[in-house]
Amino acid sequence: MYLQSLRLHDFRSYHQVLLTPPRGVTVFVGENGTGKTNLLEAVHLCCLGRSHRTGNDREMIRSGQETCAVQLRVQRSDGVDEVGVRLFMPEQKKRKVIYINGKTASRTGELMGHATCVMFSPEDLDIIRGAPQERRRFLNMLLSQCGAGYYYALQTYNSALKQRNALLHSIVRGEAKPVTLDVWDEQLAQAAVPVVKARQFAAQALDKLARDYYANIGGREDEVFSLRYVGHLADTTEPASVFLNLLHERREEDLRRITTTAGPHRDDLTLNLSGADMRAFASQGQARTAVLALRLSEVDLLTSRQGEAPLLLLDDVLSELDSGRRTRLLACIGGIQTLLTCTDMSDLTGAKPDAVLRVHDGTITTEETT
Ligand SMILES: Nc1ncnc2c1ncn2[C@@H]1O[C@H](COP(=O)(O)OP(=O)(O)OP(=O)(O)O)[C@@H](O)[C@H]1O
Ligand SMILES: [Mg+2]
Repeated sequence: MYLQSLRLHDFRSYHQVLLTPPRGVTVFVGENGTGKTNLLEAVHLCCLGRSHRTGNDREMIRSGQETCAVQLRVQRSDGVDEVGVRLFMPEQKKRKVIYINGKTASRTGELMGHATCVMFSPEDLDIIRGAPQERRRFLNMLLSQCGAGYYYALQTYNSALKQRNALLHSIVRGEAKPVTLDVWDEQLAQAAVPVVKARQFAAQALDKLARDYYANIGGREDEVFSLRYVGHLADTTEPASVFLNLLHERREEDLRRITTTAGPHRDDLTLNLSGADMRAFASQGQARTAVLALRLSEVDLLTSRQGEAPLLLLDDVLSELDSGRRTRLLACIGGIQTLLTCTDMSDLTGAKPDAVLRVHDGTITTEETT
C-alpha cells in the first residue's frame, strides 16, 4: 500500500498541509512539541476512524476552530482510494463524517480496510504493562483493520452488553423482572461468538509470529516470548453455549454487582518471557522488544490478510533502542512505506531515509537527504 498524499485542514497544530511522501522511509524531525506525532495521528485517524492517543475527537480540532479535516490518498494493488474524516466541535449538529472516494459513508466501519496502518508509539509499553483493556484495544484495532466484520461484531456485542447492564439496573430498582434477562443473555451469548473466534485466531497467530520476532530483535536465545488469550471463553470451541451457562450461573452475582461480570469485555492476553509474566517482571528493554515483536506481527497479519503491507508509522521509537535492536528492526521493516518521527537525526544511525522533513510549529520544510 502506498500513501500518495496526506492533506490536513485545521488538524491539531496545523492550518493547511499537503504531504506527498515517497514510497520508502520519510522522516519527520523536529524539537519536542512541534507537531510530529500530530502528522502520524492524522494518518491513523483516516485508517481507523479514531486517534491512537485520545478517545476525545474534539482534541484534534485546531484550537479556536469549529471543524477539522484529514484526507488520505492511497494506492492499493486493486486501485486508488481516497478516504477522509471530518470532525466537528460538539456545538455543531454533526460529530464525525467519513468520506470514501468522494461519497459520505454512513458508518465509521466502512473506513476499515481502505487504508491500513500499524503505529509504533511510546505509549505501546502500556500493552505490556498496562491494564487488560490496553491489550484488548490492541487486539480490537488489529482485528478491525483485518476486516469491518470484526468492528461491527464488537459494536453489536458492546451494545448488547450495555442493554443487559441497563436491564440489571432496572431489575434491582424493581422496574423489571429477572426473567426478562433471558432474552438479553441469549443475544449477548450470540454476539460474543464472532468476537471470541477472531480473538482466538489472532492470539494463536500472534503467539507464533511474535515469538520469532522477539528472538530476532532481542538477540538472546535464553529469552522465549509467548502470548496466550485468557478469558471466560478463550479456550472453548462453543462460546455461545458456554457463555449462556455462565450468564445463568452468575445471574445472582451480576444482580448483586449490577454489572455483567463475565464475557469477552473482561478478556486479556498474558505475555510471558521464558515463563514469567511480563506485566510484573519485564525490564524496560524486554518490554520494548516485546512491543516491537507484537507490532511487527501485526504488520505480518495485515499483510497476509490484505495481500499487501500496511503503512508503518514509527513515532519516536528508534531513540529508545540500542543500536543492535534498531538495526534489526529496520531490517524487518525494509521495503514498506514508513513515516517516522525523531527529535534528532542521530537517532537514525543505520537508517537510510528517502525524505527528511523538518517540522517547526505548524509548518513543514524539506531537507536535503544525503
Ligand atoms: N487541538 C490543537 N490545536 C492547536 N494545537 C494543538 C492541538 N493539539 C495539540 N496541539 C499542539 O501540538 C503540539 C504537540 O504536537 P505533537 O504531539 O505532534 O508534538 P511532537 O513533535 O510529536 O512532540 P514530541 O517530540 O514531544 O513527541 C503542541 O505544541 C500542542 O500545543
Ligand atoms: Mg511526539
